[in-house]
Amino acid sequence: MQQTPKPTPITTERPAAEQFTWWQKGVIYEIYVRSFKDSNGDGIGDLSGIAEKLDYLRWMGVDAIWLTPFYPSPMKDFGYDISDYTAVDAMFGTIDDFDALVRETHQRNMKIILDVVPNHTSDQHPWFLESKSSRDNPKRDWYLWHDPSPDGGPPNNWLSVLGGTGWEWVEERGQYYHHAFLIEQPDLNLRNPEVMDAILEVFRFWLDRGVDGFRVDVMWHMIKDAQWRDNPPNPDFKTGMPTYDQFSPVYSTDQPKTHEVVARFRQLLDEYGDKVLIGEMYLPVEKVVRYYGAGNQGAHLPGNFQLLLIDWNARKIALEIDKYEGLLPENAWPNWVFSNHDRPRVATRYGKEQARVAAVLLLTLRGTPTIYYGDELGLQNVPIPEDEVKDPQGLLMPGLGLSRDPQRTPMQWNDAENAGFTTGEPWLRLSEKYAEENVEKQQQDPASILSLYHQLLELRRKEPALHIGAYTPVPAHGPVLAYIRSSGETRLMIVLNFSNETIEFTPERMEPKGTILLQTRNERKGEWINGNIQLQSNEGVVIKLD
Ligand code: NOJ
Repeated sequence: MQQTPKPTPITTERPAAEQFTWWQKGVIYEIYVRSFKDSNGDGIGDLSGIAEKLDYLRWMGVDAIWLTPFYPSPMKDFGYDISDYTAVDAMFGTIDDFDALVRETHQRNMKIILDVVPNHTSDQHPWFLESKSSRDNPKRDWYLWHDPSPDGGPPNNWLSVLGGTGWEWVEERGQYYHHAFLIEQPDLNLRNPEVMDAILEVFRFWLDRGVDGFRVDVMWHMIKDAQWRDNPPNPDFKTGMPTYDQFSPVYSTDQPKTHEVVARFRQLLDEYGDKVLIGEMYLPVEKVVRYYGAGNQGAHLPGNFQLLLIDWNARKIALEIDKYEGLLPENAWPNWVFSNHDRPRVATRYGKEQARVAAVLLLTLRGTPTIYYGDELGLQNVPIPEDEVKDPQGLLMPGLGLSRDPQRTPMQWNDAENAGFTTGEPWLRLSEKYAEENVEKQQQDPASILSLYHQLLELRRKEPALHIGAYTPVPAHGPVLAYIRSSGETRLMIVLNFSNETIEFTPERMEPKGTILLQTRNERKGEWINGNIQLQSNEGVVIKLD
């Protein structure tokens, strides 16, 4: 007689600490390579410059560095237009410099993550030059070619994220190609197995050189509708919004087949052991979580950008955190991103004082945080005069405040000329405040925001409650955000004041008693809390509950 299979028991047990891996327990630091440290005086950051600063990063307490693209490129989109996936652009150094950087990073017990751009290449990539040359060359289907529409215009209404139409005419083929970004960034056809193999080779090349993972650029863009259907108009579009937002990109992005591509990338990474696959992901959280893949066989960390996009409001953020926690598939690991090279800096969005509260939030939430270089100094966007704008997004959509240059300005190391970033002429102007805001100065000041980051990272590393513990929201009102992180016997309560007023917080149904372990201005460490919690304006505390 056939036996009915027993249902899998539902387990509520949490995995033991040793079952968590480096990319779950650790903290990632994004380095915008052009702007971090110039070692040869050409005004552009480079790989050897990063190597010079590894000790700083180790001191600060990050576990992994993610490098933006440093591959050969015409630099139309500052390296996201790649003309050779498996080499180093001379302006950033040599492949030997890269190998040395991997070695030096690993010697300091840190990991190195590369940016990989499988959605598009540069129009100067040999693959594209061949593909555009005729309709019958071996790479003819490597990009997204299409005949014109009956009126001779572009095949459909897909737009470029960076402005204007998403199609470009090529005389040699008498066809258009699709580019989701610049004309100089033609989209690859990842439905073609040859293209897929070529991209997998790129992953292999860098994995064989010892890298620990990848951040996949525009992961949700990788596959487009096979019927090339028009995107529907966006009913919420208003003048002043980026032109791309005129249509909802339901056919040109986030296609079901994208998950197959992600799963294939993941499979390859798994062959190499404990590597991480991160996806860039500007999607509603309901869709983001699907990128973990069936049985968590997709991306390890589909980028959660909710806090990059919503208002800085304690109630909205509390809701967003709970929504995300509630949607996460079983055993999927959360992650948090507060700023990056494409969006205004945290201290610009929320102000200098709240940047400290944001630091405590980012580094005490459950899941892997990514810190954007310079946020640890409280850097703000640097206004760039119109005639100095370099970013193609700013140049193609002028007047909308969309240039990304202001958040990509050179790192501020000390008060020497050009903040110690370069001995030459920096490629982009620096903040005038660098004499005050720099690493050297803030390292010596226990009340600086850099010292706060340092202490937070130290505490996060020391306390399993913070790096692997559970998350429980604490009901609160108005400008207060409160939650508990716990592991074993340890319970840490985080209370953040999002306002510039003094507040008193009395949690419902509990009487917190305990000691302050950390405070945003480093003034209240060791203070005993008994029931009520008084918070100064813009203050955040981590309390160890008794
Ligand atoms: C996302 C990158 O972060 C951005 O800087 C770039 O312009 C686009 N992808 C295109 O690669």
